[in-house]
Amino acid sequence: MSGLYSAKVLDHVHNPRNVGSLDDANVVVQAGDPGCGDALVFFIKIENDIIHDIKFLIKGCGAAIATSSVATELVMGMPLDEVLALNDQVIAAALDGLPEEKMHCSNMAASALHAAVAQYQSTVAGDAQPIV
Ligand code: FES
Repeated sequence: MSGLYSAKVLDHVHNPRNVGSLDDANVVVQAGDPGCGDALVFFIKIENDIIHDIKFLIKGCGAAIATSSVATELVMGMPLDEVLALNDQVIAAALDGLPEEKMHCSNMAASALHAAVAQYQSTVAGDAQPIV
């Protein structure tokens, strides 16, 4: 694996940041890749349109672990409009790149973050009640 991946990817695979769940999360989102069966859950505490805390659990490949891990670092303290500007390319760039065939793993984290913002805006910040 080490020949394919940057030192940053390997660091996040072997020492993933912000792993676990969050008792006071007000947004919980899951994303999956039907092609490989991998899945990711983000637990997020959002207040005043800013991500105050985030943790994740995952069943996935090394690239999925690394991209989810670095994504939590990227969005910690980030306003939601900036979260929406993140995509798979930005997340992969934060790891000094990914092999082209692993970019779909990065997309799992990006799509989950976008879903989290949508969930927050339609439930916590909106009229609808969260489904628990
Ligand atoms: Fe499934 Fe990477 S191979 S997310």
